[in-house]
Amino acid sequence: MRPCMTPDSLDFRVDVPIPAVSRRARALEGTARVPGDKSISHRALMFGALAVGKSRIDGLLEGEDVLRTAAAMRSMGASLERDAEGVWTVHGVGVGGLAEPEDVIDMGNAGTGARLLMGVVATHPMTVIFTGDASLRRRPMARVMTPLSLFGATFMGRGGGRLPLAVTGNPTPVPVTYTLPVASAQVKSAVLLAGLNTPGMTTVIEPIATRDHTERMLIGFGANLSVTIAADGVRTIALMGQPQLHPCDIHVPSDPSSAAFPAVAALLLAGSDVILENVGTNPLRFGLFQTLREMGADIVLNNQRAAAGEPVADVRVRASALIGVDVPASRAPSMIDEYPILAVAAACATGVTRMRGVAELRVKESNRFEAIVNGLTACGVKVEAEGDDILIYGSGVPPKGGATIAANLDHRIAMAFLVLGAVTDDPVGVDDMRSVDTSFPGFSPLMNSLGMSIG
Ligand code: S3P
Repeated sequence: MRPCMTPDSLDFRVDVPIPAVSRRARALEGTARVPGDKSISHRALMFGALAVGKSRIDGLLEGEDVLRTAAAMRSMGASLERDAEGVWTVHGVGVGGLAEPEDVIDMGNAGTGARLLMGVVATHPMTVIFTGDASLRRRPMARVMTPLSLFGATFMGRGGGRLPLAVTGNPTPVPVTYTLPVASAQVKSAVLLAGLNTPGMTTVIEPIATRDHTERMLIGFGANLSVTIAADGVRTIALMGQPQLHPCDIHVPSDPSSAAFPAVAALLLAGSDVILENVGTNPLRFGLFQTLREMGADIVLNNQRAAAGEPVADVRVRASALIGVDVPASRAPSMIDEYPILAVAAACATGVTRMRGVAELRVKESNRFEAIVNGLTACGVKVEAEGDDILIYGSGVPPKGGATIAANLDHRIAMAFLVLGAVTDDPVGVDDMRSVDTSFPGFSPLMNSLGMSIG
């Protein structure tokens, strides 16, 4: 067994890459529960820490990214306890009650954790230095620095607004009205988190809707937050600052972004029939499943219900012949993390799939735009980049495969190409699997239990 990070410790990391190979698989069968939603897990820990009293969370994703957020909240004075697998208790200190950490906060690979916490710090009287792994240190932070500066926070960082970065919060912030220049739930949430400890009304105007977990959860914790949707779809989110948040019980659903991997594998492997339990089906997260259905996928939502303010369902996926489709740019925010696995589905479909307006893929955990184009090309797929669009020419039969893909610290690139290896003539390898633990600990055993062959 390799040494790895445990839910209670971040100290046992190794610097040796862990390669993996995926070989042609049989039909996938069975029922599985993928780990908890990463976006909701980060927020549950943060809002729990900002409430007054004891919140209880179950289904928490215990992936490396979320554990970084847990460690950060502890370093700022909240108390977080792990009671059992995925079950945590958070003793919050109240809005405005966090304290300056003694040391640098290392957020590892966690872009969401880093950006949202910058929002928290922006209106607390403290200075915090954030750093991260090589992937996070490459990612742009100016997109949050710009609106957070409007609250009076100041920043000192590397060129281009990169980590390591010091944030000094403003103890007497003024409320802000901010129109998002980029469709980003991270930027929206950073502004709302800064607005939490600001007297008066903070307003975010969102021309294109992005995942709304922050809004749903803040309402659940008792904040005075309203969302108005205009006829043209523009959302106005208004938050009254300095509420007393009350503690909550949060049931974190399984992550649709993780369910995407066994779902696409089941679609591609003839004879497959898989049920993925308790998956979050928030419409602002479910664009991949909509797109797969347009491609001809047999996907059924059973037992639809609500859990802690989020819609969930058991998702049944059966093998299907897929056709290429045109994916509109307007859908990108609802499936932004799913393009790598959609690209794999498209490579095995019949006809051209055009993914429009996917420029944001260039600033994810790696440059996913390039990773998709280069990785599929190496596996024998015809792919073209046209401006911000990617075109994938599916021939109706799986590609040849036979390549080893550089994961570049990107969990979703690693997992997507391992799914491709289940259907290609020759195995597909990934040079380093370690990043998979950021969002989907236990990925290979779970996929293998359904019938995949990852070793
Ligand atoms: C996330 C928002 C998205 C997504 C990320 C999680 C969130 O990022 O890619 O994995 O939890 O708010 P952007 O907001 O930058 O698009």
